[in-house]
Amino acid sequence: MAIRVVVAGATGWAGAAVARSILAANDLQLVGAVSRKHAGLDIGAALGLKPSGVTIRDSVEDALQEPTDVLVDYTHPLTVKGHTLSALNHGVHVVIGTSGLNGMDYEEIARVAVDKSKGVVAAGNFSLTAALAKHFSLIASQYLSSWEIIEYADMAKVDAPSGTVQELAESMGEVRRPKLEIPVDQILGSPATRGATIAGVQVHAIRLPSYTLGFEIIFGMPNERLQIRHDAGRDPEPYVSGTLLAVRRVTQLVGLIRGLDHLLFPNEAQ
Ligand SMILES: NC(=O)c1ccc[n+]([C@@H]2O[C@H](COP(=O)([O-])OP(=O)(O)OC[C@H]3O[C@@H](n4cnc5c(N)ncnc54)[C@H](OP(=O)(O)O)[C@@H]3O)[C@@H](O)[C@H]2O)c1
Repeated sequence: MAIRVVVAGATGWAGAAVARSILAANDLQLVGAVSRKHAGLDIGAALGLKPSGVTIRDSVEDALQEPTDVLVDYTHPLTVKGHTLSALNHGVHVVIGTSGLNGMDYEEIARVAVDKSKGVVAAGNFSLTAALAKHFSLIASQYLSSWEIIEYADMAKVDAPSGTVQELAESMGEVRRPKLEIPVDQILGSPATRGATIAGVQVHAIRLPSYTLGFEIIFGMPNERLQIRHDAGRDPEPYVSGTLLAVRRVTQLVGLIRGLDHLLFPNEAQ
C-alpha cells in the first residue's frame, strides 16, 4: 500500500518540488497539501500539473483530517514545531525539512514521538552530497583538533545559523570540542567577530545576495589546512531525494533521528 503523505508548505520553493515528486511516485500518495495563500485550489493545478484531486488546506490540522501516514514540513521556523507536535498527536510520522528548531525543541519532539510510538526524521539539509560533507567532517574531527565553520546564505534568510550548520556544529561538537588557543571571552577588541559558539564550535554566518546555501568546515593544523565545502544552487532538486528517502524510512521508526547521514550510514558511530 502506498505511503499517504501530507506536505505542509507544498507551494513553497522546497515543498513544491517535494510535492511534485510525491505525485509522480508509485509508492507514495499525496493525500494533503498545506498553504494559506493557495487554500481551496487543487495542488496539481497550483503546481502547473494536471489536477490531482487533492485540495490545498490552510492549516495542518485541517489537512490531517485525511488518513495520513507521514507529514512533511517545509514551512517556516515559527510554525514547524507546532505542526510536528500536532501530527504526532494525530498518530502521524513526521519528516522535518524546515530549519530553526534548537536542541531543546528536538528534545521535546523526541519525547512526544516516543510517547506516541511514531518516528520523526529531521535534517537541516536533505541533500545527499551535503550529508556526505557532514559525514566526512565527522570523520575528520576524530583526527584533527581545531576547526571552525563558515556558512553562506542569501540575505533574505530569516534564521541563523541555518538548520544545516546548527546540526553540523552540534554533531561535530559531540565528537570533540575544537581547541581554541585564546578563549573567545578573552579576545581583545570585539569578541563578537569570532562568531557564535555552538556546541563549542565557532560558527560564522554570512548573508549576501548571490548565495543560496553553502557551508565550509576549515580544519587548521600547523602548516596545513583541510577544507570541506558544500554549495547548493538555486533549484531545490538536491533536497528532494533525501526527503523522499526519509518519508519511506520514517514509518518504520520510533523516536527522533536527526541528520540524513544517520539514515545513509546507520551502522556507523557518529
Ligand atoms: N532541510 C533541507 O534540506 C531544506 C531545504 C530547503 C529549505 N529548507 C527550509 O525549509 C523551510 C521552507 O523553505 P522555502 O525556501 O521552501 O520557503 P518558502 O518558499 O517561503 O515556502 C514556505 C511554504 O510554507 C507555507 N507556509 C508558510 N508559513 C505557513 C504557515 N504558518 N502555515 C502553513 N503553511 C505555511 C508557504 O505557503 P503560504 O505562505 O501560502 O502559507 C509556502 O508554501 C525553511 O526553513 C528552509 O530553511 C530546508
